[in-house]
Amino acid sequence: MQLTAITCNLRTKKTNCLVLVLSNLKKGVYAPPANIDDSSGYLGSIIDGLIIKLQKSGDIKIKLGSSILIPSPNGLKAERLLIVSSGDKSLNEQNFLTLIKTISEEIKGMPIKDVLLTLQELDVSDRDKLWQAQKISQVLGEQSYYPGSLKTSPKNPDFLKQGVLAITSEQDLEKTKYACSLGVSISKGMNLSKHLGDLPGNICTPSYLAKEAKKLAASHPKLTCEILNEVEMRDLGMHSLLSVTAGTQQPAKMIILKYTGSNNKKNKPIVLVGKGITFDSGGISLKPGAAMDEMKYDMCGAAAVLGVFSMLTTINLDLNVIGMIPAVENMPGGKAIKPGDIVKSMSGQTIEILNTDAEGRLVLCDTLTYAARYKPKSVIDIATLTGACVMALGSHASGLLSNDDELAKNLEIAGYTSGDRVWRLPLWNEYDSQLKSNFADMANIGGRAAGTITAACFLARFTKDYTWAHLDIAGTAWKGGISKGSTGRPVPLLAQFLIEETNND
Ligand code: BES
Ligand code: MN
Ligand code: ZN
Repeated sequence: MQLTAITCNLRTKKTNCLVLVLSNLKKGVYAPPANIDDSSGYLGSIIDGLIIKLQKSGDIKIKLGSSILIPSPNGLKAERLLIVSSGDKSLNEQNFLTLIKTISEEIKGMPIKDVLLTLQELDVSDRDKLWQAQKISQVLGEQSYYPGSLKTSPKNPDFLKQGVLAITSEQDLEKTKYACSLGVSISKGMNLSKHLGDLPGNICTPSYLAKEAKKLAASHPKLTCEILNEVEMRDLGMHSLLSVTAGTQQPAKMIILKYTGSNNKKNKPIVLVGKGITFDSGGISLKPGAAMDEMKYDMCGAAAVLGVFSMLTTINLDLNVIGMIPAVENMPGGKAIKPGDIVKSMSGQTIEILNTDAEGRLVLCDTLTYAARYKPKSVIDIATLTGACVMALGSHASGLLSNDDELAKNLEIAGYTSGDRVWRLPLWNEYDSQLKSNFADMANIGGRAAGTITAACFLARFTKDYTWAHLDIAGTAWKGGISKGSTGRPVPLLAQFLIEETNND
């Protein structure tokens, strides 16, 4: 899908569907907005009477999100009109998102190939027009993801091909166009991430992820991709990572993607590390059967990294970014690691594996050690790491833990701006002591209490040489139950973070 901004006459612009958001519905009266400049072609009398009629018949209500899709009245070049009410209170960010999701749902599945939108009347507290433009582009772009591609007769709904956002000020045109392109780019990244997340473990294996990464790199001159195999990882001393792959038939892969977006070669890279457990059975510490299928989502950190790199192919950012994905399947088997086994990590530190289901940290620690060789500006790992994080934060915020206040703050800001929020938890020494082992430098679990924090404390032992943050996305990366599916998070958060990084330099 493409979406851009224009200044145009709403009456005479041809479109499959004109979307009008009404922010000033009052009981029984419709007052056309005073702030709309009629020279831009506001619809004025054509729709005023119509809206009063729709309100009287109860077909449109004042309530936020009340909407109706109708054939256009005479006098408009649009084929259809989608009228949506934004309620009678001033909008906050949450309400705005509800509103644009309504628009997107209404359009979805209809034979609408292009839309003309205008948000001119809308005021969203603390959020400017550019933010609104980026958001609506993202949400409409997300529509083109279809999860049923493996059905024998996929019912691929009609997707929106393009949209235009009508604005009144010529001056804001370029900036708004850019905001739209950012939103569309982010949606493309999210859609790739959702697609990979939703693929089953028998298709989306470590080798499959490696192939996808190569494909992505081949599609863009600023991207390169390198894959380390098990022999190379053994030579590097990644025995902690390799211990997780011991029980499976699927070969482990270390995927390394590089985006060279900065002309200044000396610009230190931001390293994104994504947990890529393509299926987490728990290993010998086998998980219970209920909802075990959802452990195909244990590679959503990897999917987010690939999603971000996909975004980087469609938008130029003056940055260097490295993506690292340890891709491994965690299975029980005759050769699998057992509780009590002790392995030596690439850093030299030894680990007593008390639970083979705490495998994410075992693959991440060696990856984080390797990341130091890039002399990173910062390293962010993204992982569906702990069930405890789902208990603590639910599905609304990802867990954030960091050894650097500024990096943490920047991620919090990006979370707020993107709406893909994070919540910081502490990394105090008292928690770290829970990892004590009698036989090795550390155990891979820290007991039942504060599971998200002790998991991060484990990782922190491997990230001492650089600025680092950890995102626990166990609660945010996918939805269970009847609406089971990938969310594409935290691609919006990471995208916003990278965009802000280019502004900070
Ligand atoms: N991938 C899981 C974490 C997870 C579980 C995410 C459920 C979302 C839903 C991770 O590998 C894991 O199994 N963690 C264990 C750690 C424990 C053994 C210390 C957990 O959270 O139970
Ligand atoms: Mn596990
Ligand atoms: Zn896992």
